[in-house]
Amino acid sequence: MKKRVLALLLAGVMALGMTACGSTAPEASGNGQEAPSQEGEIGETEKPADSGEGIQVGIVLPTKDEPRWIQDETRFGEILDEAGFTYQVLFSQGSSATEKTNVETLVSKGVKVLILCPQDSAAAASTVDYAADNGVTVISYDRLITGTAKLNYIVGFDSTSVGTAQGNYLIEQAGDKKGNPLYLYAGATTDENAFLFFEGAWQALQPKIADGTFVIKNSSEAEALSDTQELTREQMSAILGQITTDWDFEVSKSKAEANLTAASAADKGDVFILAPNDGTSRSIADVFAIDPDVTSYVITGQDAESASIQYIIDGKQSMTVLKDTRILSRAAVDMATEILESGKATTNATYDNGAGEIPMYQMEVLSVTKDTMQEYIFDSEYYNAADFTGLE
Ligand code: GAL
Repeated sequence: MKKRVLALLLAGVMALGMTACGSTAPEASGNGQEAPSQEGEIGETEKPADSGEGIQVGIVLPTKDEPRWIQDETRFGEILDEAGFTYQVLFSQGSSATEKTNVETLVSKGVKVLILCPQDSAAAASTVDYAADNGVTVISYDRLITGTAKLNYIVGFDSTSVGTAQGNYLIEQAGDKKGNPLYLYAGATTDENAFLFFEGAWQALQPKIADGTFVIKNSSEAEALSDTQELTREQMSAILGQITTDWDFEVSKSKAEANLTAASAADKGDVFILAPNDGTSRSIADVFAIDPDVTSYVITGQDAESASIQYIIDGKQSMTVLKDTRILSRAAVDMATEILESGKATTNATYDNGAGEIPMYQMEVLSVTKDTMQEYIFDSEYYNAADFTGLE
């Protein structure tokens, strides 16, 4: 099905001819072209109200402060230019208010499909409602949007499995040794994904915490729940309240520093660290690396950011979880294409976002370590090996 859509799309591009790409405002990018004739692309009943200025697909991403989202922007640009859609990408810079303004701007430009990665999963609900009430089909991109049944689709990875991969990696590295110091960190509590990542990691790690393989060193709330495999939302909130990084490099760094200051030399040694993503992982790793009482550390990550691939090559980060942004952005554009063509998209899962079961197109993740890097990162041409140092 998806292949069929792509083939149609490519045929459409050939018919339309490639159009020039020109960025607009600094916070925005897109091809800025006028909407091509919509016949045969979106069907007669779904022409944008404003056929002169109309943009077919609007994309709103959370922040330019993390390389991850800039990479998504690049991927979207490549795919949407190739597909010949009119589109615009806007960044919310960590603000739900800016996100709302961005969506209002795109709605006023006549977008038919909105691909929204929320800054705050719950706060985005009213923005989704606004877009939906204006006839826009809304896709929640990577991060979940909760609390609204007007959300049409979700496209993303299996976030619980990200945490499971991180937890399992720490378990493998610990082997049979008991009493390994464990430091836990999580994403922003405003991001629903952060709960799923932690939930997956906890389900993997908890039996190994209960049997003494790991000893939690930086969360009294997690320690108190050592024997609980299935955490309630309230229990997770209590833990995340202590270990959140807000997805922020500075918060990660100062939290790691505070944790190490509070810990005795006996709480250090060969340590294990659950870090939720690559940006936080690099910040936390840098802090642990310079503590004289830390003799070694194993640390997780997520997103396969290029800086973290270099950290893994250099032995400064242990693993990352690849959520292939080529596949993700392609899946979102395929979904948009199907919606524009037939009003309906292919899905393979559903997610209960608290207001309803939302159809989802879900994809699998891959664990990247020094051992799997060649295959998953370089052979697949995710990155070019020549751009990194220290590879033989
Ligand atoms: C999550 C996303 C991750 C990571 C994180 C920080 O929601 O799924 O891939 O980038 O946000 O922005």
